[in-house]
Amino acid sequence: MFRGKNIFHIAILTYLIFNLYKLNFCSIIRQVKYQSKTDKSLDNKRPTWTSRYSFILAAIGSAVGLGNIWRFPYVMGQNGGAVFLLAYVLFIVTICFIPLMTEILVGKKTKKDCVGAFELAKPELKYLGMLNPITAIIVPSFYFVIGGWIINYTYKSFIGFQNDNPIQYFSAFTQAPVITVASTLLFLFICIFFLARGVKKGIEFINNVMMPLLAIILVILVIASINLPNAYLGLEYIFKPDFSKVSGHMLLSALGQAFFTLSVGMGSLLTYGSYIKSDKNIVKSAYTIIFSSTTFSILAGMMIFPAVFSFGLEPDSGAGLVFVTLPKVFMQIPHGNIVACAFFILLFCAAITSGISMLEVPCATLVDRLKISRLKAGVILFCIIALITIPATLSFGLLKDFKLFDKTIFDLLDFTASNILLPLNTLFVCLIGGWFLKIRGELIFKNKFLISVFNIGLRYVVPIFLIGLFIIGLR
Ligand code: PHE
Repeated sequence: MFRGKNIFHIAILTYLIFNLYKLNFCSIIRQVKYQSKTDKSLDNKRPTWTSRYSFILAAIGSAVGLGNIWRFPYVMGQNGGAVFLLAYVLFIVTICFIPLMTEILVGKKTKKDCVGAFELAKPELKYLGMLNPITAIIVPSFYFVIGGWIINYTYKSFIGFQNDNPIQYFSAFTQAPVITVASTLLFLFICIFFLARGVKKGIEFINNVMMPLLAIILVILVIASINLPNAYLGLEYIFKPDFSKVSGHMLLSALGQAFFTLSVGMGSLLTYGSYIKSDKNIVKSAYTIIFSSTTFSILAGMMIFPAVFSFGLEPDSGAGLVFVTLPKVFMQIPHGNIVACAFFILLFCAAITSGISMLEVPCATLVDRLKISRLKAGVILFCIIALITIPATLSFGLLKDFKLFDKTIFDLLDFTASNILLPLNTLFVCLIGGWFLKIRGELIFKNKFLISVFNIGLRYVVPIFLIGLFIIGLR
């Protein structure tokens, strides 16, 4: 009986994986279409999106990823729950909207990589622009560690979680050096592979088909989670704010998380924006990115915290939160293995599209600056990121006790990138867009009031706010 069930699961999974391969990864490898040679004002080698929706889909693919499903619940758990969610949503609908559109518009206007765009504003500013590709090397160095864990958890869900204690399994697995390093490098390799070959078709497919599927599975898991005993405690934790938890550090973390989930502050949207050919409705794209990313984050919170409280786990237990909680939920629901497997495969796809969008930033810089092929740029990036990501992977095991500024290498990379570099890059792009490149609300809005809000927000409010929060949060 038990065997029969397993064979049934394996058959379904094989079918699923085969279809994924056939439909998706085969088509990922097509290159972005090249710019028409008749457009003399632009470098005619520069790639552009082929269809009206390609850009928006790629931007959603970049935004929705591990940041929403893995990072959001655990950072929320470490920063007081509901009050963090409130700050996160407030930042997204007020502050983040402006830099998000500015990044896209700077890319669209300059048609350059980050360094080139800053250089166009003023030659000396190119050094500030370099902070974007540097950030886009640091972020994958910890992000891909989780990508590696997902590869392993996909396999694990394939063979079943039945007899393992998820906490023990997680800690044993993350401490095993060979398997974790190998899977992180595999994840890096897969991203580089698709990056080198071009990203367009696959990203479209993943976003059209995989993201709605991922949302459906998330909803199933939310329903399963909120039906567990004492689940209401988890819902209270995420929806009933405790204002005594407000602090500069919490606000900076919420802002960093908001930038992280929207893919703002690393040049990804700037680089993707530089591939926009004709006029697109940027405002609509921005709304869609914001809506999908926020929905995924809130669903992830509703999936994790009721289960955390029901199973008596610690909400602030850190990066392993999702990996410890979810297997427990999978064990409770009918056909948990299939749901688990589908969930991790879809999460893997979401992580890949985000991973590719990160690597696109240094890749575009290398291609534009050094005039090398995407393949060569990919090889260079593989070597650099591998060097940083290996110690980050080992910081859950062999290098667990090696700490700098009281943080493991993994935590230090995450903290530096999310809480320092993303807000800093965002500040720079707003200043450069607003003051040097003359990005104006007139480019995107018709309504006079919105135009003024955008113009004042971009040049004064957002930069002052970012500098202020930065000073408070880092103290
Ligand atoms: N937004 C992605 C996520 O939430 C991460 C990301 C950050 C991607 C910055 C590109 C740029 O997983």
